[in-house]
Amino acid sequence: MDSIRIRGGRPLHGDVEISGAKNAALPLMIAALLTSEPVTLSRVPALADIATLSKLLSELGVTLTTPENGNNGRSLTLNAANVTSTVAPYELVRRMRASVLVLGPLLARFGEATVSLPGGCAIGTRPVDIHLAGLERMGARIALEDGYIRAEAPGGLNGAEYHLAAPSVGATENLLMAAALAEGETVLHNAAREPEITDLIHCLNAMGAVIEGADSDCLRITGQAKLGGTEHQIMVDRIEAGTYAIAAAITGGSVALLGARAAHLETPLECLRQAGVLVEETAQGLTVSANGQLKSVDVTTHPYPGFPTDLQAQTMLLMALAEGSALISETVFENRFMHVPELARMGADITLHGGNALVRGVSALRGAPVMATDLRASSCLVLAGLAAEGETLISRVYHLDRGYERIEEKLAALGADIERVES
Ligand code: UD1
Repeated sequence: MDSIRIRGGRPLHGDVEISGAKNAALPLMIAALLTSEPVTLSRVPALADIATLSKLLSELGVTLTTPENGNNGRSLTLNAANVTSTVAPYELVRRMRASVLVLGPLLARFGEATVSLPGGCAIGTRPVDIHLAGLERMGARIALEDGYIRAEAPGGLNGAEYHLAAPSVGATENLLMAAALAEGETVLHNAAREPEITDLIHCLNAMGAVIEGADSDCLRITGQAKLGGTEHQIMVDRIEAGTYAIAAAITGGSVALLGARAAHLETPLECLRQAGVLVEETAQGLTVSANGQLKSVDVTTHPYPGFPTDLQAQTMLLMALAEGSALISETVFENRFMHVPELARMGADITLHGGNALVRGVSALRGAPVMATDLRASSCLVLAGLAAEGETLISRVYHLDRGYERIEEKLAALGADIERVES
């Protein structure tokens, strides 16, 4: 398993191009299952999760090709004209929870789907009850057998009114895609409104779906008999942008985040400003610069437009280096503090109590061998290594490869002393 070695203490300076958003790319690739015509996506990030989903979709019979004019494999054409299987096996779903999003589209187009239950993961139990209850409301018959979800809707799905028990991102995406091919109108109340969902809605509407209410928590979908192909550019990754913004702040540097959209990052950017960091919107994106001593800010994660749970670990690191104490509360996932013991090994002063972390700022962190436990915890440890004195060796970096495109290359170009060590 590869490790990443960082010699810390260098301020980051320069430009970094932000990649296409992983969390938008995955549902957009799955949306291709809704039509027999080709869907071409551009700005596809080169990530392990994209490779895992590509493998799953090809097992279902989808052909995936990189158009000749696609630069560096960043475009991808998916053709689901000849789907040969409606079964998503455990082996692939277990590696990536977002695979469960094939359920709605397969059921809506083919009347059946068998998808492995994703199971638990490092950051919590993460059930799929909201996905399943919504599909049942639309007329699906669902049974859980041998670790699999077996869903049937022989006569097709019917539009329905459904109130999500919580604004789940994945459930909203699954139900949107299913409703796009259902008979009649579906109304989803308490829907999630993350920008990745709006990106999916734009693509689905370009495929012929009729979805109103983008950016709101009430989505109205008028089902269509069939959808067609389209071309769509994936939105820029707001979480990757936020991660590089924090990297600039904690190393005392200044970084231009090319392509980043301030509108998608309002809450975290406000937090950075309160922490004393300079944030400037530019024609190319955003520029984030350190401006003296960092100050503590309390943070509570919430569904969008609240503070994103996917930036909680990185923000905790920033507070670990700030003056004063900050209370960080995690309300989206119950066990998303796996980075805390690792940060403590580097000298951070953090006390955990349930879903709250009290972070008392220290003047510096020291490099240490640490272990990555999930995707965002991994990026927090990389950032910690950049800010720390001495050498940090991060093991199990495969988590990082799931969600950050060419991270060592991008950080090295900004002046970091970072290398991948193959073992
Ligand atoms: C997505 C993102 C992930 C992000 C998360 C929250 C993708 C591929 N992943 O994950 O990076 O951290 O949103 O912004 O887009 N829940 C239930 N029942 C359900 C579904 C969810 O109880 O049926 C709970 C979960 O356990 C969790 C909370 O709802 O506590 C939020 O989960 P959800 O929004 O569904 O996250 P994901 O879509 O899995």
